Amino acid sequence: MWWFPLLLAPVLAFTAPKNYNTVPEERWLNVRLNQMMASNNDTFPMRFFYNPLSSDNENVVILVGGDWEISSEDAAQGLAVDIARNLRASLFYTEQRYYGQSLPFPDTSVSNLRFLTMDQSLGDLAQFIRYIKSDDFEQGRYGSAKVVLVGCSMGGSLATWSRRAYPHLVQAVVSDGGPLYAREELPEFLEVVTEVLRVRGSEQCVQNLKEAADEIESAITTSVGLGQVSQVFNTCTPLSTSAMDVATFWSAIIEELEVLVWDEIEAVPTACAALASPATATAMQRLATWLEQRRPPTCLETRYTETVAALTNTSLESPQLHKRLGLFVSCGQTGWARSTAAAPLPAAARPTEYHQQLCTDVFSEHFNQAFLQSGISRTNLFFGGKSVPDYVVSVLGRLDPMSPATPIEGGLKTPVYRPEAPRCSALSSFVSSPDEENRMLKLNVMNDIQYFITGVPFAGASRAISSIFLLIGVGFALIV
Ligand SMILES: *[C@@H]1O[C@H](CO)[C@@H](O)[C@H](O)[C@H]1NC(C)=O
Ligand SMILES: *[C@@H]1O[C@H](CO)[C@@H](O)[C@H](O)[C@H]1NC(C)=O
Repeated sequence: MWWFPLLLAPVLAFTAPKNYNTVPEERWLNVRLNQMMASNNDTFPMRFFYNPLSSDNENVVILVGGDWEISSEDAAQGLAVDIARNLRASLFYTEQRYYGQSLPFPDTSVSNLRFLTMDQSLGDLAQFIRYIKSDDFEQGRYGSAKVVLVGCSMGGSLATWSRRAYPHLVQAVVSDGGPLYAREELPEFLEVVTEVLRVRGSEQCVQNLKEAADEIESAITTSVGLGQVSQVFNTCTPLSTSAMDVATFWSAIIEELEVLVWDEIEAVPTACAALASPATATAMQRLATWLEQRRPPTCLETRYTETVAALTNTSLESPQLHKRLGLFVSCGQTGWARSTAAAPLPAAARPTEYHQQLCTDVFSEHFNQAFLQSGISRTNLFFGGKSVPDYVVSVLGRLDPMSPATPIEGGLKTPVYRPEAPRCSALSSFVSSPDEENRMLKLNVMNDIQYFITGVPFAGASRAISSIFLLIGVGFALIV
C-alpha cells in the first residue's frame, strides 16, 4: 500500500456519462473495532453507499473501497454497476477503515493504528455482508442474495482475499490490479513505470530520463556539482551528501514519475515532450523544469529529517495522512518497497534500505526488517501468496506498476486477463470504454461473473457469440 499515498485524485477516475437515474445513499454501519476478538465490543461507524438501482433487485454487488475516500459518483456508474444491472443486483460501495470518513480513532498514533490490518478490513466486509443480508437491512430483502465483490487495486486485494477467507459469504469476485503476493521489495514497479514511458512516450523519452539521471549521479559526487544540482532543482537547503538526504532527493523525482504513470497516464506524452526540450538545456535542467511545473510553487525539500517529521504527524488533517497509513501497512504487512533496482535510474537512488529506515524512524525501532519479514510471511500464509481462490476474475493491466505483485496463473474458475492497459481500466463504465479491446475485456469479465453466479453455461457457446448477446443486454439495460 506504500504506493497508494500517490493517490490524491479520486481513485477510480470513472468518467462515464451519468445516465443512471438512481442516486446512491450514504449510510453507516457500526462495525467492530477488533474483528478478531469477540470479547471486545467497541465499534466505530463504517461508511457505505447504497444504490438499489431497481426496486426488485435481490442480489448484491459490492464495490470494495481500498485506501482512499469513497465517493457517491463511483457508486452510480462503472463496471460494478453494469454487473449489478446484469445480475439484478443492488450496488454497495464500502469504505475501508481508517480512510475517508470511516475513522476508528481521532488520530493516527502508532497505538491507534494497530487495528489497521487486512484481517480487520476483511472482518468489516464479513460483518457488512451479514448485515445487509439480515432482517435489519431493508426488511431482509437481500436474505438470499448472491454476493459479488468488485475491487480495484487494494480494493481488489481485499475482494480476492474475502473470497478466500469467507467463501460462504462471497460467491464471485472481480479484481483489477489487486496486488496479492507480499514481499519486501518490488523493483518491478519502476520497471513498469519505465515501460509506460516507453510505450506511451518513446524510447527517446527513457533515454532523456536516463541522461538526466546520469548527469545528476555524476554531479553529486563533487561539492561543486552538489551546488549545481541544488540550484537547478531549487532545493530548500543545499543538498547534502548524507545517503538519506540523497535518497530523499531522488525520491522526489521518482514519486513524480510514479504519480504520472499511476494517475495521469494520458499525460505521459506531454511529460516526454518536456524532457526533450529545449535542446539548449541539459537533460538535468529539463527534468528540473518539468518537476517544477508539476509541483507546488515551493522549494524542493531534500532533508530526510523533514520527510520523517511530516510522516510522523498523527493528525487526521495532516497532508501526509494517506502516505502515513500506506507506509504503516507497507512496513508491517505487505512490503512492496518501490526500490530503484532497475534502469533508467541509478540502482542506489532509492534502495530498499531507504524504505526500511523510514519504517523505523517514522513508527519506532520495533518496525525493523525482521518485523516486516514476519509480517510478510504471515500475510502470504493467511491470504494465499501467489495463489488465487476460485471464482475470482483477475485483470492485470500490463501498464499497471503493481501488476508484478500479482504473479498468478489463470484457470477455468480463475480467469486472468492481461490487457495492454493501465490499472483499473476494466472498472470504468461499459459505455465509456475507450476502445474495442477494453469493451471486449469488460464483456469477458461480465460473462465470467454471470456464469459464476447464474450457472448459465457460456462455456459451450463461443465467447464472441455470448459477448454479442451480452452487448445487446447491456445496451438494453442502459436504454431502459
Ligand atoms: C458485549 O456485548 C454483549 C451483548 O450486548 C454483552 O452481553 C457483553 O457483556 C458485552 N461484553 C463486554 C466485554 O462489554
Ligand atoms: C500536523 O499537521 C497539522 C495539519 O496540517 C498541523 O496543523 C499540525 O501543526 C501538525 N503537527 C505537527 C506536530 O507538526
